[in-house]
Formats: sequence, structure tokens, C-alpha cells
Amino acid sequence: MTDSEATRASNLTLEEKAALTSGADFWTTKSVERAGIPSLMLTDGPHGLRKQAGGSDHLGLAGSVPATCFPPAVGLSASFDPELAERVGAALGVESAIEDVAVILGPGINIKRSPLCGRNFEYMSEDPIVSGVMGTGLVRGIQSQGVGASLKHFAANNQETDRLRVSSDVDPRALREIYLRGFERVVKDAQPWTVMCSYNRINGAYASEDPWLLSQVLRDEWGFEGIVVSDWGAVNDRVAGIVAGMDLEMPGSSGRTDAQIVDAVEQGSLDEAALDVVVDRILELARKAEARPTASAPLDVEAHHALAREAAGRGIVLLKNMAPVDGREESTPLLPLRTDGRLAVIGEFARTPRYQGAGSSQINPTRVDTALDAIRDAAEGEVTFAAGFTIDEDEPMTADAEKLRDEAVAAASAADTVVLFLGVPAHIESEGFDRTDIDLPRAQLELLDAVLAANPRMVVVLSNGGVVALPFAGKVPAIVEAWLLGQAGGSATADVLFGAVNPSGRLAETIPLRLEDTPAWGNFPGEHGHVRYGEGLLVGYRWYDARHLPVAYPFGHGLSYTTFSYGDATAEVDADGDVVVTVAVTNTGEIAGREVVQVYTSLDGSSVQRPPRELKGFRSVAIEPSETVTVQIPLRRSELAYWDVRVDRWVVEGGEYLIEVGASSRDLRTRTSVQLDGDEVDLPVSMNSSFDELLANPVVGADLRAAIEAKYGDADGGLLKMLGNFPVGRLDGFPLPRDEMIQFVERAQRG
Ligand code: BGC
Repeated sequence: MTDSEATRASNLTLEEKAALTSGADFWTTKSVERAGIPSLMLTDGPHGLRKQAGGSDHLGLAGSVPATCFPPAVGLSASFDPELAERVGAALGVESAIEDVAVILGPGINIKRSPLCGRNFEYMSEDPIVSGVMGTGLVRGIQSQGVGASLKHFAANNQETDRLRVSSDVDPRALREIYLRGFERVVKDAQPWTVMCSYNRINGAYASEDPWLLSQVLRDEWGFEGIVVSDWGAVNDRVAGIVAGMDLEMPGSSGRTDAQIVDAVEQGSLDEAALDVVVDRILELARKAEARPTASAPLDVEAHHALAREAAGRGIVLLKNMAPVDGREESTPLLPLRTDGRLAVIGEFARTPRYQGAGSSQINPTRVDTALDAIRDAAEGEVTFAAGFTIDEDEPMTADAEKLRDEAVAAASAADTVVLFLGVPAHIESEGFDRTDIDLPRAQLELLDAVLAANPRMVVVLSNGGVVALPFAGKVPAIVEAWLLGQAGGSATADVLFGAVNPSGRLAETIPLRLEDTPAWGNFPGEHGHVRYGEGLLVGYRWYDARHLPVAYPFGHGLSYTTFSYGDATAEVDADGDVVVTVAVTNTGEIAGREVVQVYTSLDGSSVQRPPRELKGFRSVAIEPSETVTVQIPLRRSELAYWDVRVDRWVVEGGEYLIEVGASSRDLRTRTSVQLDGDEVDLPVSMNSSFDELLANPVVGADLRAAIEAKYGDADGGLLKMLGNFPVGRLDGFPLPRDEMIQFVERAQRG
């Protein structure tokens, strides 16, 4: 496009314009040589580059060029560290640039509404602030290299079942406050070059042709400047998509939908100006992509592998760390392991790691570390291995299963300590379908019991993309949640087991006790084309806290090999109206570590439904032994707002906000409060306003109260209380003559 910088839609023919709005093939856009418009490649994503060299598909079936497989979102988000995400993003950008990829398809930041969603490994959190902040880090990193990100899947795509057609039926408050909030944050803070619209419908309308979603919310309200690309095959009605602001259809339709666009313009049912707007946006994307200098250096495989290892180590969550002494648990921790002990490493996952999920995000890694090799490298004492189970076999009673179990028991009996690797087999969780339970395979649970009986000094290491129930949490002394951690997950696990890395990951999603306790249970995955988001705002920890439900491990939880103490938090409102929370955190142990300081807010006596507490800010801080760090965490005023359906906008309610600061949603160490002025909400006054509303009106409220009290002597307020929810025009003559009520309403309307 160099010789025609000024190429605009108006310089192109109708056919050329239509052609530009859909792909040439699976991964590239069409070029228009006459006008110097290049073809661009957009490809997966999100935690590594999946550039296919031969066959093309969006399910990860055909191979792709080798690339670093960084931790999938489930692992990266557990670091709660947007700076780390930015570094990983920059590495993704570098690898994309080397392969001349204009846009890498990620990050995915859909909310983990149910642990059953087959694609939870690709998503960040059950919380929109974590999703938005971590997503922002990734987008900034990717785009720092002159490569575009594609924020996906916009929006309310929270399950795989019937994902191309299902309507996510969700109330406006939950939609705004939970499902769109993370997208809003990333769009405003990082301006992704592209946003990928999802397959599903939202309240009946396909995301790919919804003008409310793609134009009103995304562009007009949030100021999005990039292009909207369809998820692969998400287009239902191409012409409606153009009108709605869905710029680029991927993959291409071999010209079928281009012809529909041309026809629609010629027939007069599509305004050519609407097509021009879309085409100009696509040309702008091409300009941005062309501005990136050609990558000059080859991929530094070692450096990126090292970053993948660092990131994986930061995502590991130490759930429990005790040690069994004479049949009891003592608080002396079992981890980190001594390097000179006799170790039994048990479980096929130690040798055959699960490090990424199946589907479109499946990377062809440059190499893969296994935990078994890494443990053997780090250990000085004897390390024995027993597979214990076959990954894809869930029948505990077969002769083969019993033999594997017996070998594992023998290895465990001869060792000082057992490290047992359990996990979810790949065929159970994947893009394309959802899980039906959250249980580990029976063969693995039976193995655990047998091995535990032989040796109670046991560390369980979990490999899973979605959370699993942990029925053994009470009897196993140590549990390490190692998610799916990318190609260096194995070595990162050994780093944590032996203490080379002090764990600092935190749960970005609650681990429930039972599937039946989870918020979407009974409303997932819906039926007959609809899924009702019946839990509303109460997603994730918001639900468990509201219902006072016990959980296996709460949102935000994660242990360290050191300990931290908190000083008293303070909070103040700064010049921009944002709240700044300050707290001193001291490392009270003997080794360096990281604490993830979390800030939750609530508003007692709020006029709208609110969860008991909501995360509004967090920070991961490195603290040396005995060091005290003063941590400042800004809470944006805008994040404290609720979506007011009466006026269809964000509103900050005035009042005294409680601010709780701590190490998890259920380990709150210090609290303070801050007084906030509320936003004005002008509601139209009419004869249909209630007595409560008119009594609260600043102009007439006091006079109305006086008039009623003068007539009925309502000293204890009982009458007004009973009357409160009655529209003032409903009862003629009671409590005041109708004329008098009309006068009050008119006075209030005049203001
Ligand atoms: C997935 C997207 C992916 C695309 C291209 C779709 O099936 O939902 O996340 O980017 O395929 O592979």
C-alpha cells in the first residue's frame, strides 16, 4: 500500500470493496493489487502462534510451524500479574512478526461462568477485573511489536455446547457488570487492533450482526477504533453484519457472501456508505500491519522457552502445604522438597504432560519439558517412577489398572515422599464441547487412596484446564494446582516443588466442593437454543459468598513458602475521583516471595442488588525477607459503578464503601472505608412515580410528607411505609385529593 497511502474505499469498485470484507482463504484477507492493498494473515492464538503451513482448519487438526507454547490463559491469569502478561504478549508479538502474521487471534477473556465450559483453559477468570487487567497486559505486549491482537470472543460466549447458535439470555446488569466489563477495560486501555465477535446469540441476536453490540456499545460507548472480525464461521447474515459493524468475515466464503453484498447495494437494500465505512476500517488495519518493520532476527527459542518457564512457575497455585506426622497433619510444610530425599514420582502426567488444551489454540511447541525429567535433573537422591494409570483409561478394576496401581504402591512404600501427578485427560476437556462433571477419573482417585495408604507423605500435582473437585483435600498433606502450563510446565513444576521458585499463583476461579454448588448449575448449558444466565450477577465467588457456601479453595487463594503480614489499610479519593488504597505488607518469613494483594469493595445498604464483595483491584508484589513494602492499589471510580437499567448507563451510588484487603476473597486481613459522592440520576417524575420516589424528590418531598402528616398524623411513619410503593396517581383522593397530587408532580417536573 506504500504507493497508495491514501487508498480509500471511494477509490475502489463495488466488487473490490465487497471482496475486502471477507477472507481469501482460511487465514488471509484478499489483496487488491491494482490499488496496492496487501493480503494480511490473521491466525491463532492465543498462548502461542498456530500458523499452519499445510492444511487449514480451525480445530487444531492439521500441523503448524513450531512456536513457543506459553501457558494458556488458565495458567497465566493465576499470576495476577499484568506485567508478566505483557512480557508474554511481547514474545507472542515477536513470534508473529517473524512469521509475518498481522494479527494473532487472542486473548480470550470470556468469563468462566461454569467450571464445565470445555474452553475454560483458554479464558482468564470468573472475575471481570482479572480478565480485563490480564487481557490488557497481553494486548499491550502483542501490539508493542507492531502485531495486532484479536480480543475474543465478543461476547457472552461462556460454553461450547451449541456455541454457534445458542442464545445467551442474560440480564442487562449481569451483561454489563460481569460479561462485558472485561472487554470494556481492554478496549479502553489497550485498543486492540481487532475484536473477534463470538458465534452465539445474545438475548436472541447473533453477535455477528448485532448493531447494539458491535456499534453502539463497542464503538460509540467504548471508543473502539479497530475492526471486528467474525469468529471462524460466525456469520449468519453477511449484509446484516455490514450494517451492524462486523467488518471482516473469516474465513472467506469463496465469494458467496461478497456477491450478496454487491447485490444488496445494487438492489438498494444496503447503503454503499455503510460498506465504505467497513472497508475504510479494513484498509486502516492493512496500513497498521504494513507499518511493522520486517523482523530481522530468527526466533530465540531458548529465551522464549525460559520466559515460558518463568510464566508457568508464576501460574502454579500452592493450594495446601502441610506435613503428616503420626497420622495427624502438622503445619510444618511438606514443600519445598529436599533434593536429597528418596522420591517416588507417580502418575502418567509426570512423563506425558498435558500442557495445553485441544482445539484452535493447539500449538506445535518448540520443545516440551516433562516434570519427570526436570525432577530427576534437580534431585540428588533416588527418584523412582511409576505410571500408576493410563491417561485415557478410567476403569479401575481391569487387570492392567491393578498392575499399574500395585507398581505405584510399591514405589511409594520405598520412598520418603511421593509426588503424585493427577489430571484431566485431554479427551474430556477441549474446545467444541463441555464437560459433564468436574471429577477426576475414578482410576486416578483409587490410585490416590492406594498410594496414600502406603505413604502419607504425599504431594498431589494437578494438570487440568478447568477446575476439578478435590474430595481428597482433607487427607492429602500438599496439593499443587499446576493447570495446563505450556511447554515449560514440567520444569516450572519442578522449580516450585524444590523451591527454586517460591509459588505466588492465586486462584482466578473458585474451586467448588461440588458441581451442584456452582452458580450456573441448573442453568447450564441450556436447552433448545437458549441458555438462561439465571444466577445474574452472582458469578464465581460472588455466588458462594452471597450464599455462604463452603468451597474447596476460594477465589484468590494461593500459598507461599514464606508468610506475609498486613498493616492497616487506608483509602482516599484522588483528584480524578478514583480511590487509592494503601497498605503495608511485610514478608515475615525467611525467603523472598510474592504476595498478591487483593482489594474487594462492597456498599452496605445499597439501593441495588450487590454481591457481598467484589474484587476491584490487585497487585502482585515481590518482597524480600523482613522487608515491608507499601503497596498502592488504585480503584477506578468507573469500576465501582453499577449498570442502572432505568437510565441505561453506569452510575456510582453515593455512600460509604467498605474496602477489604487481603490474600484471598476469604482471607481478608484489613479493612477501611471511603465515602463517595454519588452520580446524579434524574428519573422522570410522573403520576406513575411511587410515593417513595416522590417523597425522596428534593423539590417536593418534604412538602408532600408534611401534607400527608397534616392530614393523618403519621408520626410513626407507618402509613407512608405501607403507601410507599403505590404509584401516586393510582388511588383517586387518597391520601390527598387528585388535584393536589397533580400539583406535586408538576412542581417536581419543573424542578
Ligand atoms: C475459535 C476461535 C479461533 C478460530 C480460528 C474458532 O473455532 O472459536 O477462537 O480463533 O476458530 O481458529
